Amino acid sequence: MTFNMRLLSPFSFLLGLVVLVAYKVFSSIREKRRQHAEAARRGCSPCPVLPRKDLFGITQFRESIRATRADRGPKYVAEKLDSMSKDIHTIQVRVLDYDLNVTRDPENVRACFSSQSNDFDIGVHRTQSWKPLLGVGIFTSQGEAWKHSRALVRPQFAKEQVSDLDLAERHTRDLTNKIRAGSDGWTETMDLQPLFYNFALDTVTEFLFGYSVHAQNPDARAALPTVRGFDEPNLLELGVNFDKGKRWIEERGAFYKWYWLISSKDFDYRCREIHKLVDWFVYCRLQGGAKNTDPTLPDGRKKFILLHELAKDTQDPLELRNESLSLLFAGRDTVGALLGWVFYFLARHPHVYSKLRSIVLDQFGSSPTSEISFQQLKACSYITHVINETFRVAAVIPLNERVAVRDTTLPRGGGPDGSRPIFIPKGRQVLIATYAMQHRADIWGEDVEEFRPERWEEGRKVGFEFIPFGAGTRSCLGQQFSHTETDYIIVRFCQRFDRIENMDPGPIRLCHAIENRSGSGVQVRLHEAEDKS
Ligand code: HEM
Ligand SMILES: *[C@@H]1O[C@H](CO)[C@@H](O)[C@H](O)[C@H]1NC(C)=O
Ligand SMILES: *[C@@H]1O[C@H](CO)[C@@H](O)[C@H](O)[C@H]1NC(C)=O
Ligand SMILES: *[C@@H]1O[C@H](CO)[C@@H](O)[C@H](O)[C@H]1NC(C)=O
Ligand SMILES: *[C@@H]1O[C@H](CO)[C@@H](O)[C@H](O)[C@H]1NC(C)=O
Repeated sequence: MTFNMRLLSPFSFLLGLVVLVAYKVFSSIREKRRQHAEAARRGCSPCPVLPRKDLFGITQFRESIRATRADRGPKYVAEKLDSMSKDIHTIQVRVLDYDLNVTRDPENVRACFSSQSNDFDIGVHRTQSWKPLLGVGIFTSQGEAWKHSRALVRPQFAKEQVSDLDLAERHTRDLTNKIRAGSDGWTETMDLQPLFYNFALDTVTEFLFGYSVHAQNPDARAALPTVRGFDEPNLLELGVNFDKGKRWIEERGAFYKWYWLISSKDFDYRCREIHKLVDWFVYCRLQGGAKNTDPTLPDGRKKFILLHELAKDTQDPLELRNESLSLLFAGRDTVGALLGWVFYFLARHPHVYSKLRSIVLDQFGSSPTSEISFQQLKACSYITHVINETFRVAAVIPLNERVAVRDTTLPRGGGPDGSRPIFIPKGRQVLIATYAMQHRADIWGEDVEEFRPERWEEGRKVGFEFIPFGAGTRSCLGQQFSHTETDYIIVRFCQRFDRIENMDPGPIRLCHAIENRSGSGVQVRLHEAEDKS
């Protein structure tokens, strides 16, 4: 036995290694040749390659990890493109032995989202890095599994409840109750950002589970029914667990195919706590305790609860957890970040606020208790211009990605002038640099860095250069829901406050964990309007 071991280990290990390396080299050369021939057959030309600073691209890898940790991953991507040329919009990047393509060309983005060809889907790295937290649901699945999820979830968003203004009204009231002005009409300096995150969490939990976690106002929480075999979930920590969990996911994403190198006890803990909470709602529903999660509205109408609708189609507790968790995740931080940026920019552009306010008072009246209808919200186009400009400048989701499910091409970026198609081999990841695309001066004009909602008045036809909610078959299901919530808050703010003053003298600080949000919060002072009734 000992004899065998001695003979076996160093020698055969070395031999094995040599054979393995030789095989790897051989098959990689063969694959390169095949791709070359395939690219030529399709009339493709190569696109520019980001020069490496060392033989293996280690510097690049470390730079991009460092940028991610400093909350500036997407910005780093934009700078890399600019470092080659302002006129180059599609490049190839090599990180260690991993190739990826990066594009900020709307035509290529269109091709990535095109539903006819179905040549692209989300990547397995996304699935793998997110799986411990979200499980496999609409956000993280591919192919047939995704189709199944989409078919299950999508009909829920077509229903009238997505424009349920009662939900928006109640939680907006909770939010504005947190803002108190002194006798001179001014509030103290305050940070609005946490209020918006609480608002987003409160509305989305009520929409999904029929039970608002009332992060804004814990006293308003209804008593939870007991569920057999379950400890009461920790509602207070939900926000923190989500924030911490997402930072881990972001970091795993930045490691590309080496995502598995990143694991931690803290990440496991966050995942477990979040699962406990969602499982509690799921079991509550399945064991018939759901009656207690306040399902009737004050006016006696039956409240729409997304989880209960899903439970009509499936009683698999894991599936219910996976799907509702995807939605919880999708709906909280995006809406919170968007609202934060809207008021961040309004505070810095007083003339925009006063224009917005006079339009709102004109169309909705000046009383913060006026009736607001869904049609009215839709008709108020300046609100949309402000929201679109916020999306454009701050890019709530600043990076997206797709992976080629078969050999395919993108229409532009190849050849000396970038006008030739380029070849994308099966399995290649394409980073879609939405932030970079929304900051191209050749598309948006020389004032591209300026916050100017009026640019949307000029009858601009938007295409793939502006896709805040994604595009194609996997586009956002919560678009209407988010718009309603955001519009609603804007209207109530305008009615109640006549001035908003920026109290943050510092330069912009960022916080990027999948979504882009202001890292220094939204530090403002608000002045209450006189004529409120
Ligand atoms: C400001 C708010 C929001 C923004 C900016 C936003 C943005 C996006 C984007 C860019 C995608 C596409 C991801 C991709 O291409 O892979 C997406 C997908 C999705 N969003 Fe949103 N979202 C927002 C709010 C919401 C809300 C409130 C919900 C639900 C309550 C929601 C549910 C979803 C779902 C289910 C998907 C996945 C669709 C699929 O893969 O089939 N989103 N969202
Ligand atoms: C992607 O990479 C391939 C090969 O590595 C290259 O031929 C192609 O031009 C690149 N395309 C993009 C979109 O960068
Ligand atoms: C839910 O996600 C988990 C991973 O967390 C996975 O193991 C399971 O198969 C998924 N279940 C369903 C039914 O989607
Ligand atoms: C605002 O952006 C949306 C995409 O989110 C787009 O459909 C719409 O046309 C834009 N509005 C205007 C006025 O351009
Ligand atoms: C987030 O938005 C801000 C405001 O426009 C911008 O300066 C910053 O570069 C964005 N950050 C990322 C990571 O995209």
